[in-house]
Amino acid sequence: MKKGREVLHKAAQTYGTPVYVYEQQVIEAQCQKLWRHFPNVAIHYAMKANSNPEILRIIRKQGIGAEAVSLGELALAKHAGFKAKDTSFTCASLTERELASAASSGARIHLDSLTQIETWGRKALGREVSLRLNQGIGAGHHAHVITGGPHSKFGITLEDIPEALRITDTYGLRVVGIQQHIGSNVLDATVFLKSVRVLLQTAKRFPNLTHIDFGGGLGISYAPEESQLDLKRVGKEFKILTSAFKESMGRDVSFAMEPGRFIVAESGSLLVSVVDQKKTNKHQFVGVNSGFNQLIRHAMYGSYHPIENLSRTRGPKTPITIAGNVCESGDLFAVDRMMIRPELDDVLVIRNAGAYGFSMASNFNMHALPREVLVSGAGRLKDISFVPSEYAL
Ligand code: LLP
Repeated sequence: MKKGREVLHKAAQTYGTPVYVYEQQVIEAQCQKLWRHFPNVAIHYAMKANSNPEILRIIRKQGIGAEAVSLGELALAKHAGFKAKDTSFTCASLTERELASAASSGARIHLDSLTQIETWGRKALGREVSLRLNQGIGAGHHAHVITGGPHSKFGITLEDIPEALRITDTYGLRVVGIQQHIGSNVLDATVFLKSVRVLLQTAKRFPNLTHIDFGGGLGISYAPEESQLDLKRVGKEFKILTSAFKESMGRDVSFAMEPGRFIVAESGSLLVSVVDQKKTNKHQFVGVNSGFNQLIRHAMYGSYHPIENLSRTRGPKTPITIAGNVCESGDLFAVDRMMIRPELDDVLVIRNAGAYGFSMASNFNMHALPREVLVSGAGRLKDISFVPSEYAL
């Protein structure tokens, strides 16, 4: 399904490098996979993964809602056509003004702390509330992205539920929803399903519940030897668990999920050009015209991204360290990767960069942000470059 090298060549020739290229068909296929495996679940795309407005519109047209974490994301979701009723919002460390403003947007707000519940009640932001819970279950590809358990700043712990209920009683609030998000790039179906099972148990502590959100985290495999998340199994067991839950409640409860990466990661590549070469007695460096200011995942989490040479397919493979143009030694895209040795002006494709790529990019070192290009289903290229700061609030 991926368009492959030809269209990437064309993108590099037409727009130059560095450039992010996204394939619409891949995004649509991922959305359809979610519908297939989770047919009765509202999917809210975690737009932090990739908030390009054009990408947001593609996802919205697949019948998917939005998950936002800031007033800027709420504004952008609205701009991209998401209705408030299809938008949810969760955020730790909010100011009172931000919380009031998010509440007035009409989106479903998952309150992250006792402080937020207190503020909600005191400022009379609404009669109904939804709570983000930390059930002590966490998972993910790196400690930085595990969002359940004692080291996580997110959510209301199970021990704090009695206090949460006391505050909601004080202000006459009804808890109609609960939500969790255990972490990001979860590849183990068992742990994901365990968190579902435990949340359904916890749900029984809230008599007025109409809505349960199981968060995001559905993983994709980055490295060739990495196993895939068994989505078929997750979908099947999820259905059994949620159906049994509804039956035991004797009334209807709606379910939601908030995947980000799963929808966009594999659609995107960052194309960069080789501009330098250098050898130490430890590494053969190849320098490119991009850096961690444009794709931070290797520098920040040690993440693996497949890298191909678009200009060269023959030659012996040797260990290559690909370095960026930012003034820090940690500015690397790969260390001692076995590949055909690139030459100056070769174009390299850094794959699976559609999630947390551009959306985490910055102007560090005063480099411009890379351009973004969309490959339509028909194979046409379109410049969809985006200036995020226009929406930041
Ligand atoms: N819901 C909430 C409340 C979240 O905090 C997140 C991600 C998601 C949903 C979506 O998670 P996903 O389905 O994309 O795994 N920058 C890191 C990932 C950070 C994710 C933060 N929260 C990375 O590049 O791996």
